Amino acid sequence: MAKRLIMAFESSADETSVAIVQDGHEIVSLQTATQIKSHQRFGGIVPEVASRHHIEQVTILADAALEEAHLTYTDLTAIAVTQGPGLVGALLIGVTAAKTIAWAHNLPLVPVIHLAGHISAANFVEPIQYPALALMVSGGHTELVLMKAEYEYLVIGDTQDDAAGESYDKVGRTMGLQYPSGRLIDEMAHQGQDVYQLPRPMLTDDNYDFSFSGLKSAVINLLHNAEQRDEVIDHINLASSFQAAVLEVLLTKTRHALQAYPVKSFIVAGGVAANQGLRAGLDELLADFPAVHYIPVPIKLAGDNAAMIGAAGDIAYRHGARAGWDLNANPALEF
Ligand code: KG4
Ligand code: ZN
Repeated sequence: MAKRLIMAFESSADETSVAIVQDGHEIVSLQTATQIKSHQRFGGIVPEVASRHHIEQVTILADAALEEAHLTYTDLTAIAVTQGPGLVGALLIGVTAAKTIAWAHNLPLVPVIHLAGHISAANFVEPIQYPALALMVSGGHTELVLMKAEYEYLVIGDTQDDAAGESYDKVGRTMGLQYPSGRLIDEMAHQGQDVYQLPRPMLTDDNYDFSFSGLKSAVINLLHNAEQRDEVIDHINLASSFQAAVLEVLLTKTRHALQAYPVKSFIVAGGVAANQGLRAGLDELLADFPAVHYIPVPIKLAGDNAAMIGAAGDIAYRHGARAGWDLNANPALEF
């Protein structure tokens, strides 16, 4: 059987990335340019700056991906691209590049939902078995996604306000940490203790939804009040307390979903899936579900990258998803 070679583009936020993925589970090449340094002094992503970097990088990375793979455009099966969600100006660069290349080389164009990309990165570890459940935790999303079969995505739980990663970044900013602060808070959390009492929003609600904005505000208020009273807050212990609250909510909702839906695979994906505390908590939790294949997306593929878009693009391609030359970026695209 001829192998499928999909070139994929990702430009939804602050990483420009191009990959070539074979048969949906093998990374032939992956070229990523991160812009984090340009955004750090602003404490978050500046959309206009992001778009400019994407424009500068996208064709350079496409050439580099072909060179790394020792391939030419004529070897490719299809072009896949993140259509959304994300920053519209940033998405547009990837979509325009993908459309142009697909048109010029007469290749099918496959639209991909960014979140399906994060989840599909599990296929680089082992084939996802269906039905499957995924905990999707990133800077923009916190969702529990049920997949009864391949290419069937049902969101059973969602955040009502901030995403988990967003709350890490906002808490980090108040603590004076560099953006994005998830990894640093994670490291600090391991050195401290859960001594500050913080809320666990929606923990006991009878659903799989999340809310992190109240928790974030509780941390910010605690810091502001302490400052006014000249009290010293131990930031290491605060990081521990904050992380303990986030993890308790994520792990409890995940346990309930695993109890309600007998799945064959469980995936944790997205930038926050790199969290050491979350990974340790899930290791322990999944030990109670021995029939479930636990697939944590590898840390180097947990954040945004085009390989995951290639993996999701392969699934979409096999299921017949095709876009026309009128494909547009969709900043609010959902499953
Ligand atoms: O998936 P991603 O790279 O981009 C989005 O699609 O949002 O996720 C980025 C998010 C940021 O909020 C970052 O702070 C968070 O992932 N993050 C972490 C860790 N590493 C990255 N959050 C908690 N613990 C970590 N170790
Ligand atoms: Zn992402």
